[in-house]
Amino acid sequence: MLEIKNLNVGYGEVQVLWDIDMEVKEGEVVALVGSNGAGKTTLLYTISGLLHPMSGSIRFNGQEIAGLPSEEIVDLGITQVPQGRKLFAGMTVKENILMGAYHRKDKKQIQKDYEFVLELFPRMAERLSQPAGSLSGGEQQMCAVARGLMAAPKLLMIDELSLGLAPIIVENIYEAVSEVIKRGTTVLIVEQDVMLALEQADRAYVLDVGHMRMSGPAKEMMDNPVIKEAYLGL
Ligand SMILES: Nc1ncnc2c1ncn2[C@@H]1O[C@H](COP(=O)(O)OP(=O)(O)OP(=O)(O)O)[C@@H](O)[C@H]1O
Ligand SMILES: [Mg+2]
Repeated sequence: MLEIKNLNVGYGEVQVLWDIDMEVKEGEVVALVGSNGAGKTTLLYTISGLLHPMSGSIRFNGQEIAGLPSEEIVDLGITQVPQGRKLFAGMTVKENILMGAYHRKDKKQIQKDYEFVLELFPRMAERLSQPAGSLSGGEQQMCAVARGLMAAPKLLMIDELSLGLAPIIVENIYEAVSEVIKRGTTVLIVEQDVMLALEQADRAYVLDVGHMRMSGPAKEMMDNPVIKEAYLGL
């Protein structure tokens, strides 16, 4: 579904990602892990078209998308739930959620997806007219995921879902995400919490200061001595 080859990305003159290769197959849950500043968010931004690569290829269902404008990439079916949620604080929960569908025209399906999203996150259904800025951190993350789902993505990318949230809330949101996966959405998760990411994923990639250091089945990665020492503190 997503194939990245020899991707180089930077901010101005400063290169941040070097020769990145990565693949996400349809129906898979892939985790991208790495320490602060490794370049995870930069990679997601490049896939989303918010950053343009220096060189390299990103193919989505066979089509080259590197350097395309972000609106076209959303239309093709890639949606990112950004790190820090980036909700419109002064707008209501309902407005924020519906914002995710702004580029769609299939009104009937939008309504169905809206109902699905509210079933998935009953807490959002109770708070539709509340300003998004007044939600708790966990509720804001639910709202951000709900908004992402309203784009009806084929590939949903979630950046730091767990950051700053209590484990019970994280578990709750990942349960909702697993419902989405069951319905056939492919998911790329970015987490600093390596164990959590490996538990959720089929396969994982480890990014280390701009270089792809390792990849493999998530279960094998949990037993990998290098991962254990460097990322799991074992
Ligand atoms: N707008 C920017 N201009 C210049 N450098 C940037 C910019 N955004 C990020 N960087 C740099 O790129 C590198 C990678 O940052 P990035 O945010 O992609 O890392 P990350 O793996 O997502 O980290 P974190 O886990 O803290 O979210 C860092 O060294 C950062 O300082
Ligand atoms: Mg980041």
